[in-house]
Amino acid sequence: MTKALFLLAVAGSLAVALTDDDEAKALPAGAGKELVVKVCLDCHGAGPFRGQRLSPDDWSDKVYDMIDRGAKANDDEVAAVVAYLTKNFGKDSKVLVNTAPLVELKSVLGFTVAESEAVLAYRKDHPAFQEWRDLLKVPGIDAGKVEAKKDLLAF
Ligand code: HEC
Repeated sequence: MTKALFLLAVAGSLAVALTDDDEAKALPAGAGKELVVKVCLDCHGAGPFRGQRLSPDDWSDKVYDMIDRGAKANDDEVAAVVAYLTKNFGKDSKVLVNTAPLVELKSVLGFTVAESEAVLAYRKDHPAFQEWRDLLKVPGIDAGKVEAKKDLLAF
């Protein structure tokens, strides 16, 4: 491999590592988070699970499905991962609008892709949202949709 190609390869893997890191950081804090980062961000990002809202049984099924696919966790770790997922992405879990990825804004709040992208863009250069009304400042957002979902938003 030429030196330039080698440097490109290194830069590429660093870029991937940074993205993973950002996804890990953006996950809600709390018991089990470190374990979820270790067990669940190995093959894919957080999007596949952050966009869902499941019961404890369904999370348990999902985690065992991932273990069949190669995820590594013992029974105690599975219990802790399922508890974390149920608490943060369970049937009644709210959406942390300052850190939620596009898929969570879209699937859980029902924003369109364009609205979800507008939220992400707005978040980049504005202070954190403090309450639901702050989302009304996002260009192109549907105010009625935001108000209808306001009890699902967390800050
Ligand atoms: C060994 C690799 C691997 C690991 C580790 C892994 N997954 Fe997956 N995951 C996959 C693959 C492959 C798919 C795509 C499967 C598909 O959609 O057919 C997937 C898809 C998903 C999906 C979306 C599809 C669905 O069934 O809803 C969810 C949710 C998910 N993973 C959650 C998790 C969770 C939670 C963990 C940690 C316990 C985890 N994954 C760890 C390989 C992995």
